[in-house]
Amino acid sequence: MKNNALALGLMAALGFSTTALAGGAAQSIHVYKSPTCGCCSDWIDHLEENGFRVNATDTNNMGRIKANAGLIAGLGSCHTAFVGDYVIEGHVPADDIKRLISEAPQAKGLSVPGMPIGSPGMEMGDRKDHYNVILFNEAGQTRIFSRYN
Ligand code: CU
Ligand code: CU
Repeated sequence: MKNNALALGLMAALGFSTTALAGGAAQSIHVYKSPTCGCCSDWIDHLEENGFRVNATDTNNMGRIKANAGLIAGLGSCHTAFVGDYVIEGHVPADDIKRLISEAPQAKGLSVPGMPIGSPGMEMGDRKDHYNVILFNEAGQTRIFSRYN
């Protein structure tokens, strides 16, 4: 009896961990943002809804974070995030981050420059600006990773 109960407990424990692995361990992402940024918090909500585990740090020195991240001029937005070895700048959709991680290209990261209306965290009714997700590398080269609208 005691052994059976132990075995069942063990199976439950193994079953639980197998399920967790099959579902994919939650990818953690660290977001730096200004303490007063509302759209940054909305983007964080979007990430969490899509299975990311988010750590957020408020800072009044986003300029330094962006410079240290190696962001190229013209690619800047509000928040700057780090996932694995990649930089994620601005309102990049969660699906693009997942694709970046699975394809693992030689690159510095992804950016949605500015703050286009209709990108995740920038919803304003039905309004949707056209925007691109940009892949960039250390050398300052860019290419379009995906297009929206
Ligand atoms: Cu924003
Ligand atoms: Cu933001």
